[in-house]
Amino acid sequence: MDGKVIVITGGSSGMGAAMAKAFVDRGAKVAVFDLNEEKGRALVAEINQPTAAFYKVDVTNKQAIAAAVDEVEAQFGPLTTWVNSAGVSEMKPFLESSEELWDLTMDVNLKATFLCCQVAIERMLKTGGGEILNMSSLSGKKASSWQTIYCASKFGVQGLTQSIAKEFADQNIRVNSICPGIVYTEMWEKLKHQYAKKRNLDPEEVMDYFKGNIPMHRLVDLQDVINAAVFLVTDQSSYLTGQSINLVGGEWMD
Ligand SMILES: NC(=O)c1ccc[n+]([C@@H]2O[C@H](COP(=O)([O-])OP(=O)(O)OC[C@H]3O[C@@H](n4cnc5c(N)ncnc54)[C@H](O)[C@@H]3O)[C@@H](O)[C@H]2O)c1
Repeated sequence: MDGKVIVITGGSSGMGAAMAKAFVDRGAKVAVFDLNEEKGRALVAEINQPTAAFYKVDVTNKQAIAAAVDEVEAQFGPLTTWVNSAGVSEMKPFLESSEELWDLTMDVNLKATFLCCQVAIERMLKTGGGEILNMSSLSGKKASSWQTIYCASKFGVQGLTQSIAKEFADQNIRVNSICPGIVYTEMWEKLKHQYAKKRNLDPEEVMDYFKGNIPMHRLVDLQDVINAAVFLVTDQSSYLTGQSINLVGGEWMD
C-alpha cells in the first residue's frame, strides 16, 4: 500500500482502528477522522509512525471534512483512498424509536457517507482516481426487528455505494462496501445488552447465541475485515466496483 494516502472515518475505534493499523503496517499514510479524540490520539501513539495522524472531525459536517482533508493533503500528499467506518447503532422496538434516533443514525451512517464521498471524489477527480470503501452491514441487506432505523441507514449505504460506483466507473474511481455480520467491537459491548432484552437472554449469552446461528459458528474477526478491506482498496480488486463483500460466515448469500 506504499503511496496510498487514506482517510478512515470512525478510525478511533473498532474496525476503523484495526484498518488504520493494518494499512500503516502495509506502507500507507493514514489519517483518522473521528470525534473521539482520546481514543484517536492513543491509537496514533500506539501506531507510533509519522505516517499516521488523527484529526478531530465530525463527519456530518461537510465544511469540517473538507478543511481536514486540506490538512491531510498538505501533510501526506494527494488523497488516494477513503474508508467510511464512522457509525452508530441502537436496538429498540420500532414504536419506541425516536425521531432523534432517526436523525442521529441517518446523519452519521448515511448522510456522512454521502458528504465524505462527495469530498473524496472531488479530490480524486483532480488526481486521476481512487478507491472508496463504505462499511455497510449485513443489516444493509437483511431486515432486522428492533433495528429498523439502522437497517434503513445501511440499506441506504448500499444504494449510495452502487449509484456512485456507476457514475464514476469510467473515471477510475471504484466504490465498494463490506457487509459484516457481528464484529465484537465497542458497538456490540453496548448492543449485547439491548439484544439480550429483545431475546430475553443474559447479555453474556448473546455472542454464543449468535455463533449458534452462523453456519461457520464464529463471529467476524477484525482480521477478516482487514483482509477484505485491503483487497477492496488495492489493485487486487481492480475490476470490482459497486460490489459488496458479505463477511457473514455463510449466514447470507445475496
Ligand atoms: N460491530 C459490528 O458488529 C458491525 C457490523 C456491521 C457493520 N458495522 C459498521 O461498521 C462501522 C464500524 O463499526 P465499529 O463496530 O468499528 O464501531 P465503533 O463503535 O467501534 O466505532 C465507530 C466510531 O465512529 C465514531 N463516530 C461516531 N459518530 C461520529 C461522527 N459524527 N463523526 C466522526 N466520528 C464518529 C465513533 O467515535 C467511533 O470511534 C460502522 O459503520 C458500523 O455501523 C459494525
